[in-house]
Amino acid sequence: MSQKEVTKAIFPVAGMGTRFLPATKSIPKEIMTLVDRPLVQYAIDEARAAGIKEFIFVTSRGKGALEDYFDHAHQLENQLRERKQTDLLALLQSTNMDSGAIAYVRQHRALGLGHAIWCARRLISDEPFAVILPDDVIASDTPCLQQMIEVHANIGGNIVAAMRVPPERTSSYGILDVADEAGRTLRVRSMVEKPLPAAATSNLAVIGRYILTPSVLENLDNATVGTNDEIQLTDAINEETGPRKSGVHAFRFQGQHFDCGSKLGFLRATVSFGLSHPQLANEFLEYLKTVIAHVHEV
Ligand code: G1P
Repeated sequence: MSQKEVTKAIFPVAGMGTRFLPATKSIPKEIMTLVDRPLVQYAIDEARAAGIKEFIFVTSRGKGALEDYFDHAHQLENQLRERKQTDLLALLQSTNMDSGAIAYVRQHRALGLGHAIWCARRLISDEPFAVILPDDVIASDTPCLQQMIEVHANIGGNIVAAMRVPPERTSSYGILDVADEAGRTLRVRSMVEKPLPAAATSNLAVIGRYILTPSVLENLDNATVGTNDEIQLTDAINEETGPRKSGVHAFRFQGQHFDCGSKLGFLRATVSFGLSHPQLANEFLEYLKTVIAHVHEV
């Protein structure tokens, strides 16, 4: 069955980034640099590779630097052109977005992820749409969202990226109860936001990539607060698991996930991306070897 194409993606970036204070006093977390690109650039690149044409950012007060980042830097481009620094010019230009391709909506109060997505409802019509949480960085040969879009083209409905997590970590994620255990695409019976390990039905967790039906936005129209007194996206998607609803599948993506919303996750991503960076990999590896040798000595 062929489905309506997914051409819009919502990027919720309104969070305060308290885990990265004091850095986030003056820079949005999404602008923090993973090797040589801001976190948000990885999310944008993944969306573009998956065929997304319209990029909707849900922002909040203090996110000005994020909006500025997507301006075209004409003066800088001219300087690089004059100095014939063509590589840098090409790099800079590869981050330019088409005029009108980016929209910003404001989340006026921090009422949760579900509320953030609902704030973008007027920019989505009767069409499936993607959601990308830039904190969740996924390294893979085929970008995660593209893998999901390929699955969506066949089965439609709602699809959430999923990964097994240590059982003691269920209270950090949306947790899925799936009907079958085999294969990469699993029908979801229900999903719960951040259950304690004792209450969790599995250790299959939602990772920040979604393809959703517009009915999820309708569910959010009438949403009440859930876990942590926030309006949860998980609850609105869970409603679609019921009879005569659009259905939900978990997709166990191929790739390596980094939780760049935590300091340790950000450090891991930095090391991993540094080790696969074409210009840095060799020297960086040598450096890490000396660091580890030194640790073993002491
Ligand atoms: C959000 C979602 C959660 C999901 C997680 C993935 O939680 O609410 O269901 O598992 O992202 O990163 P957050 O990390 O924003 O607390």
